[in-house]
Amino acid sequence: MKFIIGNWKMNGNTDEKDALLKSLKNSRTKNKVVVCLPFTLLYGNDFGITLGAQDISEHPNGAYTGDISGQMLKDANVKYVIVGHSERRLYHKETNETTRAKATAAIKNGIIPVICVGETATDKNAGRTMSVVKKMLLESVPQKGEYIVAYEPRWAIGTGKTPTYEEIASVMETLHKALIGIKRENIALLYGGSVNQDNAKQIISIKNIDGLLVGGASLKSDTFLPIIKSIE
Ligand code: PGA
Repeated sequence: MKFIIGNWKMNGNTDEKDALLKSLKNSRTKNKVVVCLPFTLLYGNDFGITLGAQDISEHPNGAYTGDISGQMLKDANVKYVIVGHSERRLYHKETNETTRAKATAAIKNGIIPVICVGETATDKNAGRTMSVVKKMLLESVPQKGEYIVAYEPRWAIGTGKTPTYEEIASVMETLHKALIGIKRENIALLYGGSVNQDNAKQIISIKNIDGLLVGGASLKSDTFLPIIKSIE
């Protein structure tokens, strides 16, 4: 079983959500499909598809205007939450420390965090990809509990560019070994960044990859379903 996690970012409305979830329900797959929606679309899940959120507060409750707690997500029946996405790191200055605190808050509420790590174009061009992603991983993951790690090179997100399959394979090996080093060999590893129906099958066949995190192509069934079907 592979994970295919869609990340809608700040897109979509109720009709679009219903259309996608309905087509996912009819598509029957043995893989684990999750759709991470904006907060306002999390309630009202008529199709039995597993839903995720895109952020969570590190705090349990209180005076944090605009934030959403783990308890609230649990109340909305959310099962997964993306933490440390590069857009959160870039636009909201979230750090590895914040990411770890958010992942811990999710686990405390029975929600599985999908912890994102990935190098910038500058890191890549300076030959620092491995050291950067390893550091991000080790500083962002919580000490205990179930979680998923997604490798998303920042420069590959929404750009149509992806690393070569060899490059993805070597980052995955680095992450896999680092997780073994902290005795977490059973953590699922995903790849994300410009995944589409033409590259999904090959990416998923790379060693140590347990799934995909899909942004733009997860918004509509005509682009998301072919990805899911291609890896059956
Ligand atoms: P993308 O986004 O598939 O549109 O590149 C992936 C992500 O940001 O999770």
